[in-house]
Amino acid sequence: MKKMPFDPERTIIRLYDVSKYFGETDALVNVTFDVCRNEFFFISGPSGAGKSTLMKLLYLEEHMSSGYAIVDGMNLARIRRNQVPMLRRRLGIVFQDYKLIPNKSVFDNVGLVLEVAGIRSRKTVRDRVMDVLEKVGMADRHDAFPPTLSGGEQQRVAVARAMVGNPSLILADEPTASLDPEAAEMIFDLLVSAHSEGTTIVITTHDRYLLSKGCTGSIYLKKGQCEGPDGACR
Ligand SMILES: Nc1ncnc2c1ncn2[C@@H]1O[C@H](COP(=O)(O)OP(=O)(O)O)[C@@H](O)[C@H]1O
Ligand SMILES: [Mg+2]
Repeated sequence: MKKMPFDPERTIIRLYDVSKYFGETDALVNVTFDVCRNEFFFISGPSGAGKSTLMKLLYLEEHMSSGYAIVDGMNLARIRRNQVPMLRRRLGIVFQDYKLIPNKSVFDNVGLVLEVAGIRSRKTVRDRVMDVLEKVGMADRHDAFPPTLSGGEQQRVAVARAMVGNPSLILADEPTASLDPEAAEMIFDLLVSAHSEGTTIVITTHDRYLLSKGCTGSIYLKKGQCEGPDGACR
């Protein structure tokens, strides 16, 4: 495939010929695609297709076996270990299983992101955390602990945690797969509103219903191979 000129103002993610092997398993094979800034981009495909692996490459939980990838101006193959936290701070990540810290309050789960980013003013932290908790409808539960919340509520907190640092990009790996339809709809709508405020969203799903709700671009993965744009999307 021909490499298009790269414009970092326009392209937030570029994967070119990216492969990832786990021993004998080809989790991703020669995957190539771009995501533009301000897209709402879907990665769809059945279970085992390589969707989570692809996300993990983007936030550097895994390293690609070969290929070339740029995320928000950073070349993932060349990134130094001490730059990884900087990349992660520019991303918001939402997982299928929420991954909240169970023995910290809702407020602290979200506030930790700002503290790690070096924001020292307690007032700034309080204002920003309460503002995003308000957006996701969880402000009145700010002192609750995650195990006392429903799945949908925990995921709303996880979305708040992803949004609080004003990231340029939110990666959401099957964020609605563990939720009932009503809670799933609410989470999806929160991502839509983050998108409308200018955040690029990349979301994986095996649920074609979500795809039908619209996006700006997509790829379909099958057995680690990118089978082109998903027809439900464009
Ligand atoms: N850490 C790992 N070690 C070995 N194999 C893995 C690992 N992570 C994923 N895989 C394999 O890679 C393939 C893609 O997995 P995954 O990315 O989780 O797919 P999806 O998220 O689309 O369900 C599967 O065959 C899976 O078993
Ligand atoms: Mg997965």
